[in-house]
Amino acid sequence: MSAIPRTVATPDFLPFTRLTIDEATIEGVADVLRSGWITSGPMVKEFEARLSDHCGGRPVRAFNSGTCTMEIALRIAGIGAHSNTDEVITTPLTWVSTSNIVLDVGAKPVFADIDPVTRNIDLDRVEAAINANTRAIIPVDLSGLPVDRDRLYRIANQPRVQRHRLRVVEDAAQSFGSNWNGKPIGTSGDFVSFSFHANKNITTIEGGCLVLNDEAEAKLADQYRLQGVVRSGLDGMEVERVGGKYNLTDVAARVGLGQLPHLEEFTNKRRDLARHYFDCLDANFCKQIDCRLPVADFAQSNWHMFQVILPEAHLAARRMKRADVMAALHDRGIGTGVHYPAIHLFALYRRLGWKEGDFPHAEYAGRNTLTLPLFPSMTRSDVERVVDALQAVLRGA
Ligand SMILES: Cc1ncc(COP(=O)(O)O)c(C=O)c1O
Repeated sequence: MSAIPRTVATPDFLPFTRLTIDEATIEGVADVLRSGWITSGPMVKEFEARLSDHCGGRPVRAFNSGTCTMEIALRIAGIGAHSNTDEVITTPLTWVSTSNIVLDVGAKPVFADIDPVTRNIDLDRVEAAINANTRAIIPVDLSGLPVDRDRLYRIANQPRVQRHRLRVVEDAAQSFGSNWNGKPIGTSGDFVSFSFHANKNITTIEGGCLVLNDEAEAKLADQYRLQGVVRSGLDGMEVERVGGKYNLTDVAARVGLGQLPHLEEFTNKRRDLARHYFDCLDANFCKQIDCRLPVADFAQSNWHMFQVILPEAHLAARRMKRADVMAALHDRGIGTGVHYPAIHLFALYRRLGWKEGDFPHAEYAGRNTLTLPLFPSMTRSDVERVVDALQAVLRGA
């Protein structure tokens, strides 16, 4: 099989995701550029206010990535600052930034394998992994499917656990617009981190935000966001701690402000298309060859991605691997993605001691997961085209 070309082959090529940005947003960005104030200013403040509305009035700060929001949450909680024995429990099946930030602050990631059905962290394993060094849990809502928040906070709030002041940093990078039992993600819980990277359901091109518990945490977030600086009066400046350069620009915030009003429409469209995937896929065939479908949740998930776990043994019998399926779909004008390989098998993490066999469910998913096209401007006939092509490739046609 040929390598997958990095360029798009035909005009009707269907990528796995595509941005929807309206003309009013493009005009709004042009206005910001003309205004003379393009870095953090009034647009960022306005964006934070709208995000806070979305999160039930909780304090929210915007940043230039979802990665740094999680790092700052750990710093606010003092994790890794005083002891290199601090442990943070997270999933091995996520974008690698989720665990890189744990290393960044000087703490130790502790992985708990996924539940093979939801593909999210297995909360039984989280509970079993908690010890006296555990300082935080970072659950990830993979593809937008929310981790069970009731169970998560029951575990985090147990008296034996709270003796160690354990915190939760919800990596909700993929779940803006999802809800748990009707409550939008971000309206409750401890720290909640969202990403607005270009592939996310709502974008600022690059960017993210952190939902905080109170104004004291928000003040710390302000400092960590920009070099630790605290301003007072017209000309006062003090530096209290080491901060980074994590501020969002007004240009990016204006993109986000143009995206937010579309959240419900985008989410509904994604749910409708996901439902259509289930209607079109041949469930018996998938079961027979062990091609695993995602959880059919059309009420809580924002369907950030539609991912199947390819049938490894079925493909191996045909001397095929995931890359061959991707190439065959690409030849039929369909783009796919891989989100994600299991983190603990990356060279960096292997050097820290992890190895094959440590987290078998995450490893199987990491080797075989395939992200199919899903974005709001897609049509139902696009879904049908993807399903026909995928099933033909799996049938060996
Ligand atoms: C699960 C998860 N966590 C964290 C991030 C990091 O977000 P960002 O790319 O905005 O830094 C992403 C982004 O892809 C993600 O999908």
